[in-house]
Amino acid sequence: MKRLQFLLILFFTSTSVLVGQELSSPNGKLKMIFALLNDGTPTYQLNFNNKEVIKTSKLGFELKNDTNSLIKDFNILSSETSSNDSSWEPVWGEVKSIRNQYNELLITLEQKKSNRTLIIRFRLFNDGLGFRYEFPSQKNLAYFIIKEEQTEFAMTGDHTAYWLAGDYDTQEYDYTISRLSEIRKLSKDAVTPNASQTQFSPTGVQTSLMMKTSDGIYLNLHEAALIDYSCMHLNLDDKTMIFKSWLTPDANGDKGHLQSPCKTPWRTIMVSENACDILASKITYNLNEPSKIENTSWIRPIKYVGVWWEMITGKSSWSYTDELFSVQPGITNYAKTKPNGTHGATTANVKKYIDFAALHGFGGVLVEGWNEGWEDWFGKSKDYVFDFVTPYPDFNVSELRDYAKSKGIKLIMHHETSGSTRNYERHIDTAFKFMKANGYNAVKTGYVGPILPRGFFHSDQWTNNHYQYVIEKAATYQIMVNAHEAVRPTGIARTWPNMIGNESARGTEFQAFGGSKPNHVTILPFTRLIGGPMDYTPGIFEMDISKLNPKNTSRCNSTLANQLALYVTMYSPLQMAADLPENYNRFLDAFQFIKDVAIDWDDSKYLEAEPGQYITVARKAKGSSSWFLGNVNGETPRVSKLSLDFLEPKKTYEATIYADDKTAHYKTNPQAYTIRKIRVTNKTKLTQLSAPGGGFAISFVEVD
Ligand code: NOJ
Ligand code: CA
Repeated sequence: MKRLQFLLILFFTSTSVLVGQELSSPNGKLKMIFALLNDGTPTYQLNFNNKEVIKTSKLGFELKNDTNSLIKDFNILSSETSSNDSSWEPVWGEVKSIRNQYNELLITLEQKKSNRTLIIRFRLFNDGLGFRYEFPSQKNLAYFIIKEEQTEFAMTGDHTAYWLAGDYDTQEYDYTISRLSEIRKLSKDAVTPNASQTQFSPTGVQTSLMMKTSDGIYLNLHEAALIDYSCMHLNLDDKTMIFKSWLTPDANGDKGHLQSPCKTPWRTIMVSENACDILASKITYNLNEPSKIENTSWIRPIKYVGVWWEMITGKSSWSYTDELFSVQPGITNYAKTKPNGTHGATTANVKKYIDFAALHGFGGVLVEGWNEGWEDWFGKSKDYVFDFVTPYPDFNVSELRDYAKSKGIKLIMHHETSGSTRNYERHIDTAFKFMKANGYNAVKTGYVGPILPRGFFHSDQWTNNHYQYVIEKAATYQIMVNAHEAVRPTGIARTWPNMIGNESARGTEFQAFGGSKPNHVTILPFTRLIGGPMDYTPGIFEMDISKLNPKNTSRCNSTLANQLALYVTMYSPLQMAADLPENYNRFLDAFQFIKDVAIDWDDSKYLEAEPGQYITVARKAKGSSSWFLGNVNGETPRVSKLSLDFLEPKKTYEATIYADDKTAHYKTNPQAYTIRKIRVTNKTKLTQLSAPGGGFAISFVEVD
């Protein structure tokens, strides 16, 4: 590493004299100053275009049973700068190649009275800052317990925020858009009432947190590489507008058990005057380690259908029986149990989905509710309710294995753990071997309900280590993982690209549980997707859920054209066509877009975006000259004026435009769409309407 000269700045505040060290982004637009307050407290401050975007913010840790803590009395032992400008190719992704360009400042601090060393590593990119704490191996800080991380993010004003209330267990909420000063008043209503015990503060919020300042600067706070550490939430002091890190506690209330040498996840702050830059930022992946999987040829993006929506809507059931009894899988003879007659995962029904997938060129079929235990998954015997290898009597594993293979379809396994992490770990090798023996190479895991052992949360260090264990274990079996209800991702898929999906947010299932806000999908890419792809499960064509299950009066708050656009706006290497085959058969002309759309990309261009209002993105399919474009729109009708200058010059494309009809509205007329074909070039300007809760999707195919 190159040692460079430092700029030492002396500057004065009303309270203290600071000695600062400055770091600039490669393009010079962002400037960070690291400084010690005169009591030895480390701080940082961030400017964008010579304007303050993060005010002086403290850094440090309060340790448990430790009088010294890592808060003040530091002096700088050494500091080094270095630069990086390299590129890497993701196994799957939005772009073919990712540039990793930053300037780094590495500060080594010493706390003399305790004889301890703490390193803070800052990386300043053109689109934001990342920093992490590192604890070198040392006698006086060998094993320690974090009482609280004391990282501050001091806001410069009462910004508009797109937030989820603080909750240790779930992110499955609609976003609230408000000023920071309004969070306290609104947060109780932003969580479900029975989540209140995990809502840690009335001004607590989750990351990734998206914000906009009153002078139009977009800010995003999140973390990268959350490994062996607890998930960071933020608690706002709404008088000073300072956010402070608030880590998820374990069952004892401890926030982290660490042993040096070790490091924290990166804390990230993205900054831009253009919302599109936040969507396109690769900071989160760049701050993760390169792939640890050498041979990645078995990791493949996949489009799939599934025996799933029929259960979510209540049309059929996961369980084979309604008889409730305390069972130990394999011991009770289900064949003698009275079937409820609504079981979804029957051999015949799965074959129907395999046929549909094969006919329309899908790669996979997900099957839920195939294994014993569902009748009791909320029951008392929960700790051992699933063994992940014992099918219900009407699901024939080997017959379906052979049938799927004969049709060129991959079955996708489902492991609902019911939050019982230890039970899953006990069974995991047997379960993965069973998968491989039966032709499955991908698993959807799930963690519904409170985590067992009791007292742990979905986002604490212990449970995060469980998710990581599953990903790494799956890699040894060459199995891809899509985890639902796990901690929200932080770019770990760069290191473990077999993690092809996560839910960890409010997905399409909520359209059958009362509906989501129509602008939800204009916020998710700014928040949840910052850490990695989401298994959002789009593609609902029948918005009136009572048509599937008369007892379910929920509505999908989206137009059909909006559902098509989601395949482009919600980037994921794993995309489901979630509705039932019979609903697709009614709209085969629109279904064509879902069949055609790519799932892996050479390039992506965010054309226009405003969180909570609209997102328009164009993507170039991997290894092809075709482009696909998606626009999703919030509550207000809107006209996009787009330049197609992303297309290759001097080429003509046939554009097929799937759009909302003039009369479309997510509430009253969601299935009103038009399809038109036009010839375009990179000089073409396109004007296109989006209805409330609507959007449009376009495929561009080169013509000779
Ligand atoms: C919640 C998941 O998000 C959903 O996809 C799944 O079907 C159910 N849990 C059952 O595991
Ligand atoms: Ca879920």
